[in-house]
Amino acid sequence: MFSDRANQVTPSATVELNAKVAQMTREGVDVIKLNIGEPDFDTPLYIREAAKKAIDEGFTKYTATPGIPELRKAICRKLREENDISYQDTEICVTTGAKQALYEALITIVQEGDEVILPTPCWVSYEDMIRLSGARPILVQTNRTEGDRFHLDLGAIERAVTKRTKAVIINTPNNPTGVVYRKAELAVLAELADRYDFWIISDEVYEKLIYNDARHISIASLSGNARSRTVTVNGFSKAFAMTGWRIGYAAGPKEFIQKMKGIQGHVTSGINSIAQKAALAAYTTPQDSVAEMCAQFALRREMVYNRLSKMKGVECSNALGAFYLLPDFSAYFGRRWRGGVLKDSFDLADYLLTEVKVAAVPGDSFRAPGCLRISYSNSMECLREGMDRIESSLAELQ
Ligand SMILES: Cc1ncc(COP(=O)(O)O)c(C=O)c1O
Repeated sequence: MFSDRANQVTPSATVELNAKVAQMTREGVDVIKLNIGEPDFDTPLYIREAAKKAIDEGFTKYTATPGIPELRKAICRKLREENDISYQDTEICVTTGAKQALYEALITIVQEGDEVILPTPCWVSYEDMIRLSGARPILVQTNRTEGDRFHLDLGAIERAVTKRTKAVIINTPNNPTGVVYRKAELAVLAELADRYDFWIISDEVYEKLIYNDARHISIASLSGNARSRTVTVNGFSKAFAMTGWRIGYAAGPKEFIQKMKGIQGHVTSGINSIAQKAALAAYTTPQDSVAEMCAQFALRREMVYNRLSKMKGVECSNALGAFYLLPDFSAYFGRRWRGGVLKDSFDLADYLLTEVKVAAVPGDSFRAPGCLRISYSNSMECLREGMDRIESSLAELQ
């Protein structure tokens, strides 16, 4: 009755968990939410004011399919000044969230049966997006060696390349690992793309959330060749706490954007006009609020990392970006609780939610078996309480 494409989509694990947690909260259960995939801050006032002004001035009609010219210009300026990549405004397509940019990028470049390499652990949506586009996801594990944990295993990526390889999707800073890729590994990946003729889709939505002395590098900035093979995807959701506004963009070579724009014209016509004015304000106003949010995340990350890394049997490396940690709890597999034996990360997440009302996303959803993704996008008080509950619940396991 339904298409093979629709049938092969697996429901998003994070969305399902969110629904369950929302239901528990409605029933009055005090759940500590460590599963949150969005900043717990409000969209800055100046951005909200710009949107209100757009409505009051009647800026409520269809706009150009790839986005209003002034926003595309502001994005070009941002990419030049902050990311060291020079794009023309004809090389930008504004989209309904970075998600739409990623999906449209895929359907712009892959044919039925092509392969797209995906370093794992990875964000939940990539695999389904690749399948929906008609291609096959080729999962390649990242490094596990100390010091390089979750960085690209370039040898493994090269071994995974075949004649059908059309693209590699990278995500830096990474969800769920928090790893920020280094210039040297990105340079090798760009060389591989050149040698074997594939695209790089670079998802950089967490670029502004980085800590200590980490530096975000856009792979397209590394050389002319890298730029010509890369689609740089970014958005406003994470940096400006604008998840509900649904606005992001893709930047890439002109011919690519031309095709992508053609597809978008038939799918959505264009982007919400008001969200575009809000995004324009985000990129043309000093970004103090971003720095403040990042400073808060840095404090929380330190606390959560310190607590997790001291818990018996838990292995946790500190992350340099995004707002997640990915501790390994596999030492507890095989232990018992009243619900049975803990076999995997799904059981562990279920145990924590049922017994101590802590919500965290099972690592298996991100191809990170043994782990839980802990989001520190929550107040310090809730995070402390969450750590106390996890620690005491682990001690209860037999
Ligand atoms: C790695 C990654 N890329 C893209 C997105 C989606 O971003 P947007 O809200 O701009 O569609 C998310 C959201 O969770 C994400 O984690």
